[in-house]
Amino acid sequence: MSRNQVVFGLGLATALLAGWVAFPRALYSKRPQPLAFLHKTHAEKSGVSDCSQCHAFGDDGQYTGLPPMETCVGCHSGKIGTSTAEATLVDHYIKRGVSTPWLVYSRQPANVWFSHAVHVKRAGLACTDCHGHYGELDQSRIYEVNRISGYSRDIWGHSMTRLHRAPGDGMKMSDCEDCHRRHSVQVGCLGCHE
Ligand code: HEC
Ligand code: HEC
Ligand code: HEC
Ligand code: HEC
Ligand code: HEC
Repeated sequence: MSRNQVVFGLGLATALLAGWVAFPRALYSKRPQPLAFLHKTHAEKSGVSDCSQCHAFGDDGQYTGLPPMETCVGCHSGKIGTSTAEATLVDHYIKRGVSTPWLVYSRQPANVWFSHAVHVKRAGLACTDCHGHYGELDQSRIYEVNRISGYSRDIWGHSMTRLHRAPGDGMKMSDCEDCHRRHSVQVGCLGCHE
């Protein structure tokens, strides 16, 4: 190998590495949640261990998704701890009657129709099959938005190559379809797109 080839090879490797590291950082912009709610504290300290006490199916069978403020007021009408996150919850949201503008990591584009009732109640899937272990975390995750598509990073998933992904890391069209194939479920375009 000539000296020029070595120099070229090193230059190419450096450029690729820089792109590999820098591209994802440039592609996603970061936004913190309005306040750091921790699932782990609640599982351990609040006595509420069942997910459905906060993420419930309504009487009509529809998923209500994120808990409304009333779910929190029972315990947090005044401060019970010393964390700044709880102080913000009480002073900024609960006392002023403002609901918390949570960012939803798994939010799909508006043209996608998704039903928790079908997947959780009818098919008996676990939350972890699609959300990983988010419901057990002891920290608040940063929400990342793709600057080009405007989608949450969780749609593509955290691996740029999409190889060796953990369950729940990524929910693109092909991920929905892969699971449907495994379960021999047939859904047409209009089943998922309104
Ligand atoms: C059954 C009681 C209970 C309910 C319901 C409850 N919490 Fe808590 N929460 C607690 C306890 C206990 C702590 C720990 C307080 C401490 O020791 O700092 C806590 C702590 C917090 C904190 C501080 C950071 C953390 O998570 O450790 C935030 C923020 C918070 N709660 C938000 C909420 C929100 C938002 C809701 C409604 C969706 C809610 N809580 C519902 C009991 C509850
Ligand atoms: C005390 C109420 C409470 C309980 C109990 C609770 N959650 Fe949550 N959960 C929340 C709140 C508030 C948020 C919104 C803030 C956030 O994303 O951290 C949330 C967000 C989530 C999300 C994020 C959805 C998304 O894509 O943004 C998932 C997944 C989730 N919870 C799963 C679970 C699971 C699984 C359990 C049971 C093991 C559980 N939660 C128990 C209050 C609760
Ligand atoms: C088959 C995959 C799948 C399973 C299983 C699943 N989810 Fe989801 N979840 C999703 C998708 C996809 C979205 C985004 C829906 C959308 O944007 O329309 C979502 C959204 C959410 C949200 C945000 C609510 C909102 O405002 O839309 C919460 C909270 C949540 N899921 C909690 C849970 C919990 C708790 C369980 C277990 C009882 C669960 N999920 C099971 C795929 C799943
Ligand atoms: C199992 C559910 C499902 C089925 C079936 C499905 N889609 Fe999708 N589709 C999605 C989801 C989820 C997204 C958004 C995430 C993404 O972009 O991959 C999407 C995104 C798209 C997009 C936006 C382009 C893109 O990649 O962002 C187009 C176009 C599309 N689908 C067309 C179709 C057509 C045509 C069919 C039938 C041949 C179809 N879809 C069937 C779930 C589905
Ligand atoms: C972990 C596996 C899994 C994933 C991921 C998954 N699904 Fe499904 N889905 C199922 C199963 C199983 C059924 C069949 C439910 C039944 O009828 O028992 C189903 C059924 C459906 C149906 C048919 C509903 C009906 O009324 O018959 C739609 C629509 C659908 N899924 C949309 C989606 C979309 C959109 C996504 C991705 C955002 C997705 N699914 C991701 C397992 C999955």
